[in-house]
Amino acid sequence: MQRTLVLIKPDGVARRLVGKIIARFEEKGLWILGMKHMAMSQEIADRHYAEHKEKPFFGDLCSFMTSSPLVALVLEGPESIALVRKLVGATKVAEAAPGTIRGDFALSTQQNLIHASDSPESAEREIAIWFGDSELADYKPCDGAWVN
Ligand code: PPS
Repeated sequence: MQRTLVLIKPDGVARRLVGKIIARFEEKGLWILGMKHMAMSQEIADRHYAEHKEKPFFGDLCSFMTSSPLVALVLEGPESIALVRKLVGATKVAEAAPGTIRGDFALSTQQNLIHASDSPESAEREIAIWFGDSELADYKPCDGAWVN
């Protein structure tokens, strides 16, 4: 089992796509361990996007991400980091395949609806930015019966 951090970005909330996006993850069989609807502060943006600090788009990315509330989720499932990124689709709009969330709903590389952790190290670091241990559900499916 693996945990990953997902952000439904401000455009996803503003476009009222939260339910549809979460449904994609739930229908696949992933479990929601944590979920919150909140604004990203500049301080959180600096920590969350630290690796992009020198990129030319950093300022625009932070302005967008702090502009209005988003939904943060911790999802759990087998190989969930790679799996979620596959369900989300490529970052660049023209590369996101139909059938992925971005491929079906996004038209912009910046306003691309979702952030998803890209490695176990990122997932651990990002989950700790957004959630305390006590905010994550600790439940186990009985006999795997909740998977399908
Ligand atoms: S990079 O340069 O390859 O590391 O960047 P990439 O992984 O493709 O994207 C990292 C995040 O930056 C966002 N992004 C942008 N925002 C604004 N303007 C431009 N031009 C731009 N290019 C990339 C992109 O949506 C990624 O956001 P997250 O939240 O990580 O998905």
